[in-house]
Amino acid sequence: MENVYLDNAATTCIRPIVIEKMQKALIECYGNPSSTHSFGRTAKTAIETARKTIAKYLNAHPSEIIFTSGGTEADNMILRCAVRDLGVKTIITTKIEHHAVLHTAEDLEQEGKIKLHYLDLDQYGNPNLEHLKALLQQDETKKLVSLMHVNNEIGNKINIDLVCAICKENDALFHSDTVQSIGHYLWDVQKTPIDFMTAAAHKFHGPKGVGFAYLRRNSGLKPMISGGSQERGFRAGTESYHNIIGLEEAFIQSYNNLENESAKVLSLKNYFIKKLKDEIPGVKFNGHSADSSKSTYTLVNVNLPVTPEKALMLLFNLDVKGIACSKGSACQSGSNLSSHVLSEVLSDEDLEKPSLRFSFSIYNTQEELDYTVSVLKELIEK
Ligand SMILES: Cc1ncc(COP(=O)(O)O)c(C=O)c1O
Repeated sequence: MENVYLDNAATTCIRPIVIEKMQKALIECYGNPSSTHSFGRTAKTAIETARKTIAKYLNAHPSEIIFTSGGTEADNMILRCAVRDLGVKTIITTKIEHHAVLHTAEDLEQEGKIKLHYLDLDQYGNPNLEHLKALLQQDETKKLVSLMHVNNEIGNKINIDLVCAICKENDALFHSDTVQSIGHYLWDVQKTPIDFMTAAAHKFHGPKGVGFAYLRRNSGLKPMISGGSQERGFRAGTESYHNIIGLEEAFIQSYNNLENESAKVLSLKNYFIKKLKDEIPGVKFNGHSADSSKSTYTLVNVNLPVTPEKALMLLFNLDVKGIACSKGSACQSGSNLSSHVLSEVLSDEDLEKPSLRFSFSIYNTQEELDYTVSVLKELIEK
């Protein structure tokens, strides 16, 4: 077996139909969407159609969807603009958020613009919601809570409706980094009254360099980038037309096929977990990643019973065998350079062992998973 791609939480391959649509867009529709002639108008109409399509699936209003260059930009924009425009003085988050959120919040704190609080986490990485309530009630400052729906490393899912309700009761704004969730889970922003969320097309078989921010209507946010009047004046710069068309198609495909495809990916994940348990004694699963009721169906984070010497070469050796996955931690002869997520959740003993994240898509097969487990077993036993 030559190439086994099990790093779908990092990015996914593009669906052939998405490539077709993008190619057509690149060839046939090169007008600048801001131009008033027919070339421009055609591009503009297609962008507005894409916005409507996305809004329809989320039960949102089209004006609430702002196209961006991806998840990082959308997360940065929301946090920074909420502080600048909405009087937010306190941000409450966790230490296991993606760096797009974590580093932005840390920068805002260093700039002296906010107070930053991290919620306590339990041994699985679940945020303590009693701590959240206590922090929300601790003073009168305007607060923004930022908690990701699906953790990109350990796959944990938070109870988004419960967090929404707590934020509403306490008059706080709620942002969720939903980059690992949009395209994989159904959303209805009328039932889940979230203020802000973010998406990246490359996480659901769309192109890289495009995503969107969902900003609830009348959010009060003002533009972060100054310039032209694109995106209703909210995000200046000529739109990446072909990318937006690709995002739209990837979004449609994900949601139209969600039931079948999520069931397929979940069965691959469960198959892989069982196979690992059967073949590799001492294997453990980080966070809630082996419990599909509490984690995403798309990934599993595995802690392997391996000495630090072997751990160093594990990812490299998997790569040599054609298997692509992500390291969950890197141990270097005693000193622990672990991921910022795992170092919050694992015991010191487990942090010394290598952790790997395997993430799945509809394009994976059971044969690939059999091969991966057999290579892992061989590398561990060698
Ligand atoms: C949870 C999460 N947030 C944000 C991002 C950043 O998204 P992008 O790569 O589109 O900037 C990622 C991508 O790895 C992610 O997994």
